[in-house]
Amino acid sequence: MKVGVIGLGYWGPNLVRNFLAQPEVDKVIGCDLQESRLAMIKRKFPGADTTNDYKALLKSDVDAIVIATPVDTHYKFAKESLEAGKHIWVEKPFTATSDQAKELIDIADSKDLKIFVDHTFIYTGAVRKIKDLIRAGELGEIKYFDSVRINLGLFQHDVNVIWDLAPHDLSIMHYLLEDKKVVGVAANGIANYYDLENVAHLSVYFDNNCFAHFHVNWTSPVKIRRMILGGDKKMLVFNDMENFEKIKVYDSGVEMESTEKIHEALIQYRIGDMYSPKVVQTEALNLGAMEFINSIKENRVPLTSGYDGLKVVKILEASDESIKNKGKFVAIND
Ligand SMILES: NC(=O)c1ccc[n+]([C@@H]2O[C@H](COP(=O)([O-])OP(=O)(O)OC[C@H]3O[C@@H](n4cnc5c(N)ncnc54)[C@H](O)[C@@H]3O)[C@@H](O)[C@H]2O)c1
Repeated sequence: MKVGVIGLGYWGPNLVRNFLAQPEVDKVIGCDLQESRLAMIKRKFPGADTTNDYKALLKSDVDAIVIATPVDTHYKFAKESLEAGKHIWVEKPFTATSDQAKELIDIADSKDLKIFVDHTFIYTGAVRKIKDLIRAGELGEIKYFDSVRINLGLFQHDVNVIWDLAPHDLSIMHYLLEDKKVVGVAANGIANYYDLENVAHLSVYFDNNCFAHFHVNWTSPVKIRRMILGGDKKMLVFNDMENFEKIKVYDSGVEMESTEKIHEALIQYRIGDMYSPKVVQTEALNLGAMEFINSIKENRVPLTSGYDGLKVVKILEASDESIKNKGKFVAIND
């Protein structure tokens, strides 16, 4: 396979490295407008070719195009790549609007091409372990999903903090709670420095008694990457800042004996053991690249497809509308 990577800024070099490491890939061609980025790729990865001309790359015999440019350019590169008959890998978030995402999915379907959306966290050992625990019924029914992703982060020029950071957590939420249906969102945020929000809170509502909340911030003095899943059997904390015990499962919970009259209800707290399951440490991008290649070889939908990208973009779009209206509930038709 030959793979072209468009966009060699912060994230692109990681993609070049991981595609070069795949046994099925015999050529990687990096593309960027900036000569300094091409020179860096040549220096760090002598096995890769480079070009500053993406149109020539699309006309070449590459099988797949990896798009790691700013979000507002994803659609243009993705559409031109599909029209040139290439399978595509698109960085998160998939597109800038849900209409763009739907159009790309239709083009890919009509040409029997694959769309892989880089929801990187789905390929981490930690998230896969949490999925296994949920599948095995270890946590019981999930009642809430509470996520914090904050630090002194890199301001983006084209998207606000929700579009930049929340796709990670939203993709994890969809993956872990795949049996639940999102019905709408409410979001609040503030833009302290320019016209894009740098701090935001996003709530996602489901059709049953389950709720998810996301706190994202580019201007926090401390770095927190933590997620809590409240199950009715056990509760789980995923702390991505931990090197070893990333996941902790708590045999803790609340039981209410009568719910008819709250002042008469007997609430019992259960505080039991905690354990930390082993998490596989393989680099997520390596597994992602493998999944993309296998989905092409086996002619099947990849684990993180255009449809998964679209589901996240719908929530991001709805969050913009909600923020404009000071946290108004915005319905989502999934
Ligand atoms: N999956 C993840 O964990 C993860 C992490 C970081 C960034 N990303 C995503 O990767 C994408 C890129 O982010 P970044 O932080 O690397 O951005 P960046 O601004 O550092 O890099 C973008 C690069 O694209 C190049 N570019 C722009 N237009 C081009 C064109 N017409 N032809 C060729 N090159 C062009 C720019 O010169 C630049 O080098 C974004 O979608 C971002 O959300 C994903």
